[in-house]
Amino acid sequence: MTEEFHRIRRLPPYVFAEVNKAKAAARAHGEDIIDLGMGNPDSPTPPHIVRKLVETVADPRSHRYSVSRGIPGLRRALAGYYERRFGVDLNPETEVIATLGSKEGLANLSSAITSPGDTILVPNPSYPIHQFGFIIAGASVRSIPATPDEDMLRALERAVRHSVPKPTALIVNFPSNPTAFTASLDFYKDLVAFARREQIWILSDLAYCEIYFGDEPPPSILQVPGAKDIAVEFTSLSKTYSMAGWRMGFAAGNPHLIQALTRIKSYLDYGAFTPIQVAAVAALSGPQDCVTEIRDMYRERRDVLIRGLHAAGWDVPSPQGSMFAWAPIPERFAEMGSVDFSKLLLKEAGVAVAPGLGFGEYGEGFVRIGLVENTQRLRQATRAIKTFLNKHGVKQAEAVS
Ligand SMILES: Cc1ncc(COP(=O)(O)O)c(C=O)c1O
Repeated sequence: MTEEFHRIRRLPPYVFAEVNKAKAAARAHGEDIIDLGMGNPDSPTPPHIVRKLVETVADPRSHRYSVSRGIPGLRRALAGYYERRFGVDLNPETEVIATLGSKEGLANLSSAITSPGDTILVPNPSYPIHQFGFIIAGASVRSIPATPDEDMLRALERAVRHSVPKPTALIVNFPSNPTAFTASLDFYKDLVAFARREQIWILSDLAYCEIYFGDEPPPSILQVPGAKDIAVEFTSLSKTYSMAGWRMGFAAGNPHLIQALTRIKSYLDYGAFTPIQVAAVAALSGPQDCVTEIRDMYRERRDVLIRGLHAAGWDVPSPQGSMFAWAPIPERFAEMGSVDFSKLLLKEAGVAVAPGLGFGEYGEGFVRIGLVENTQRLRQATRAIKTFLNKHGVKQAEAVS
């Protein structure tokens, strides 16, 4: 009997585990840890969405198995959202599917379309399921730069010339977790032109489409004419409506990919609990002021965090979207690497961050700082970081937060 399972052997030890262990130990000693290491929204789901759930759950007819690909009203609500927000026309019957959070959709689509030995193109660093969905399915991953620019496009051309077998799919995610990079519609046009020419599927993860801080909302890749020939896009209610625990996401776009995901999911699940799907319709089709409020909350946190870090002498770029700052490790600590730096910051400042290495080899040299605590706690965190940096001889900026 083998205890060496092929798929499990392809999954490296969880990089975050070390920092998580240190975090748990510090808490067990009664220390107050400010946890900016997770991507878990801390604000409650808006009350009208919760009310709809409660109302629906009281109806016994909602207690049966639901519909794996999502109830028709929910698929129509997602199509309505795409029409309003992006001017993209979707057929709710053939071009939309509901998923149990976008992570589940990404993982199952990866396995639906992958043959063992396929080559897949994945930005590095990236959100882990982007590469591990494919790795679990038996693919080889070729890393490409995570920047939405010429570097990525050149790397894609090289990958097509030099990978055997030729890549079958590419994944992108803007605004990005962990880097917070955002992409323009022009960039998506180049990407779609490349993928159509080379006949490569694109999986776009748009989980942070409503968490943006500039004037320009992030575009959808499906806005590019012809994108539906080769692309599918994942969205999620987790961040937009603070519904992470509800597990509600979507895939939309190319009908063949939607059909493949529908088919594999029909074997695996019965869909989200019906009251959750009904409440998700209320989220997408009801009043949208809550989306603005959530966005404003993250913007305020971003400003407090970035100002505080600058004042502490840590020059971290201000993210234009997502709920993260992607922070280069200060020069003074560069040699120790992101895992040891995160552990030191936890031990000496009581602040938990995610080591960049956890998002891939090219995430080394950075840590990801989540906007997942309120502004008072963020101020407390940046004050502690200031004391920490001061102790280690990092010069402070003139400004004060
Ligand atoms: C880029 C990205 N995609 C997908 C997800 C998963 O979201 P969901 O809750 O919809 O599964 C996350 C969660 O943090 C994420 O950061």
